[in-house]
This record gives sequence, structure tokens and C-alpha cells, in this order.
Amino acid sequence: MKNLIDILDLSVEEIDAMIAVANDIIDHPENYREACKYKTLATLFFEPSTRTRLSFEAAMLELGGRVLGFSEASSSSASKGESVADTIAVCCGYADIIAMRHPKEGAPLVASMKATVPIINAGDGGHNHPTQTLTDLLTIKREKGRFDNLTVGLCGDLKFGRTVHSLIAAMSRYAGINFVLISPEELKVPSYVKNAYIKAKNIPYEQTTALENVIDKLDVLYMTRVQRERFFNEEDYLRLKDCYVLTPEKMAMAKKDLIVLHPLPRVNEISVAVDDDPRACYFRQARYGKFIRMALIMKLLEEASK
Ligand code: NCD
Repeated sequence: MKNLIDILDLSVEEIDAMIAVANDIIDHPENYREACKYKTLATLFFEPSTRTRLSFEAAMLELGGRVLGFSEASSSSASKGESVADTIAVCCGYADIIAMRHPKEGAPLVASMKATVPIINAGDGGHNHPTQTLTDLLTIKREKGRFDNLTVGLCGDLKFGRTVHSLIAAMSRYAGINFVLISPEELKVPSYVKNAYIKAKNIPYEQTTALENVIDKLDVLYMTRVQRERFFNEEDYLRLKDCYVLTPEKMAMAKKDLIVLHPLPRVNEISVAVDDDPRACYFRQARYGKFIRMALIMKLLEEASK
């Protein structure tokens, strides 16, 4: 059975095909209104979420399917001490496909070993977030028209930001990519990510602490929130939380065809004054998340029925 635990579970060709489906859904939503009739998606969210959970639920509802689930660990039997494996074994009896978010790295992988229905990783701790990456890729494709020959700046909490890790893995498969990694010393991309995707493929990259020194060369700027919930102490969080703030003044230094992405939620790292800049794509990006998740649910259900 096909699951989506890591973005590399999907080939470049499969991603291209899903993007084509998502674009077709955007143009002809009426053709998909019964695509998942009588199918049920369970959203098992052991960690907070707005966009990911709601876009999964909206996606399934727009495909004519049904949804059930929980949105916090405290309202599930995890709070009584139930293991992930047991919760999954039970939920497989209630749903045809499961999207799961968990604070522990690897929990969705464990779930997929136990499951009899497809498992989608909707974010596991500070590790991976493959469906956000699908959203990011659809956005890049729609806004830039290509995945190759791009200078991609990743800015903020590159250590705990799981969306960054999955996006680096995905972008490292295209030709002519340059990464510019912009973070404080303490929040650099973990070496396992750098080694597996950037160094292993000899992808040119630079690391810096200063956004204003590099913003002029970027085609894509991916801003991220400092991940408060993953910090060991509040003091470090308070010291680092406002390390980057994208302002209209910084945008004035950037290319005219830069695109600014952010997985959201935003805290302070992008000034609201940037929102009206046509290069600010993050709210469009959040909307695209629903369409690519529709394409993903259809694909995994189809493969499961083979
Ligand atoms: C991201 C996440 O949960 O990792 N949010 C999302 O899914 N859109 C980013 C974040 O929480 O900062």
C-alpha cells in the first residue's frame, strides 16, 4: 500500500501528475464532486493545526467523501496512555485513509507499519511535513512556472522547521537549484538534512545570518516561524523569536519576480505591510493546499483499491 510519510515516497513524475490534477481541480472543481463518494478520511491530530487539518477536511468534503477525527491529543485516548500503534489499528476500522500529525518524529512511520489503510504524514515533530511541501511545490509551479534553475532562500528556524526539511529534500531533485540558508547560528539546518540532500548531490548552497545581504539574489524566499513548541527553554525562544522580520524595505531590495512563501502561521516574521505586495504568495499558497491534498487523497485511495 502506498503511504506518504516522506516527500521522497513520491517520484518527481508522481508529483508532476498530482500537480496536473490539482490544476485541473482548480479549473473544473465540478468534475471531482463525487470522486471519493462513500469514502472516509480520518484526521488524527495530536498537535495543533489550522490549515493542514482544515484543508484535508475541506479536500475530502469537496471530493464528496466524509471526515471524522480529533484535533488534539487530549481529546483522544492518547491521554489515557494508548499507543500510536493501537490508535491506528482501531481507526483503520473506521476510515479508508488517515492523515496524522504527531509531536514525535517517526510516529506516522510507525503508524504506517500497523495500518491497513493509507497513512499520510501531516507533520511529525521537527522532522518532516510532506503535504506542506506538495503545497509549496504547487505554489512554486503556479507562480514561477518551473522547479529548475531557482535560487531558493530558506529563512528562519531551519533547525526545527519540518516544512524546510521536506522542501529541501524535494527541491534537491531538480536541476540548477541553489540554496541560501538564512538562520541564526542556533537554528541552522540539521546536518542530517544537509548531508542527505544538499551535500550528497553537490548542490551549491550558502549559509548566512543576514537576510538583507542575500535577498537580492533570490527567486523564492521561504519564510518560517521560530518553532516555540520545540524549544527546550523559553529564554532561547525569546532571544531568537524576532531574528527576522521581512519588511517592505527589505522587499524593495529583492527581485521584481521574487515569490515569498510561508507555510503559516505567521507570528512576526513577515510584516503585515508586505501582504499587499504582489510577490507575497502565502495566502494563495494556503488555498492551494486544499487542491493538492484533493489530488493526494484521490491518488492514495486509487492505489489502495488496486
Ligand atoms: C507548519 C507546521 O505545522 O509545521 N504549519 C503548517 O502546517 N502550515 C509550519 C509552522 O507551524 O510553523
